[in-house]
Amino acid sequence: MYMIHRGVIFPTNSHDEESLDYAENRFQVWDEDIFNVTYPKSGTTWMQQILTLIHSNGDPTLSRSVPSWERVPWIEQRTAHGYLETRPSPRLITSHLPVQFFPKSLFHSKAKVIYTARNPKDTFVSLYHFYNMSGFLEDPGATQDFLNKFLSGEVIYGSWFDHLRGWLGVKDKVNLLFITYEELLQDPRGSVIKVCNFIGKKLDDKAIDSVVENSSFKSMKENQMTNYSLVPDSIMNQKKSPFMRKGICGDWKNYFTVAESEHFDVVYHEKMRNLDISFTWDK
Ligand code: A3P
Repeated sequence: MYMIHRGVIFPTNSHDEESLDYAENRFQVWDEDIFNVTYPKSGTTWMQQILTLIHSNGDPTLSRSVPSWERVPWIEQRTAHGYLETRPSPRLITSHLPVQFFPKSLFHSKAKVIYTARNPKDTFVSLYHFYNMSGFLEDPGATQDFLNKFLSGEVIYGSWFDHLRGWLGVKDKVNLLFITYEELLQDPRGSVIKVCNFIGKKLDDKAIDSVVENSSFKSMKENQMTNYSLVPDSIMNQKKSPFMRKGICGDWKNYFTVAESEHFDVVYHEKMRNLDISFTWDK
């Protein structure tokens, strides 16, 4: 079910030592590559959809006919090896990898990285539901217990804090756009334009409207190519919790007790010390 790779937990349904070694040491990054990097449950699928639509100049055909994980595949998963090499450039590539496991060749390239972060309280709630519905992850147990695991990094892809800190730490060495889930929610159009500018793609107003429309929560919840309904119940049981669950900011308030929230804040301020970054916690 799990493996521990240099101190970080990875699910073994899609990862192994070989796939992680391939990603880190053998995968060749091309200058035109565009990476969608996230900690899990932070807007990965959303950015996969936005990037596909921008890439297709707003034409939704591809985003309605090919699953998101094939359009913007994960570099660290077993299926990437062999597949990514055949993709036309510019390749759209997803990753949850903490920066220390990322392809080394990134640092000698001009490739672009979009890092989408989400406030960690909502990320935690979304991850809790994801553990609950996933056949390949353990039962998360009580929220209180899972919260302790989240805060100490004993969850898939490790500590949220380390992930963010690691990626912000290379922002001067990598062509990186930092964007937040909350920013995407508050200003979808402005966010799409920001991504277009970063990847050097010029779209007209109509195309931008189509990107926004086809990447809305409602549209993605209905789209089989983004809502994970193609995945069998044994892997993702959407009767327990839909993949496209709520798609809002501030849901953590329905789960955290006052004491848990205060404890979280203490850990947050300690771990985020000296980082010039802030999150929106409520809509
Ligand atoms: P919730 O569980 O809080 O609803 P990831 O793709 O990184 O696994 O993240 C999944 C989370 O992003 C889920 O959060 C999902 O509902 C939310 N999400 C996906 N697409 C979205 C969209 N277009 N708008 C808002 N939230 C979206």
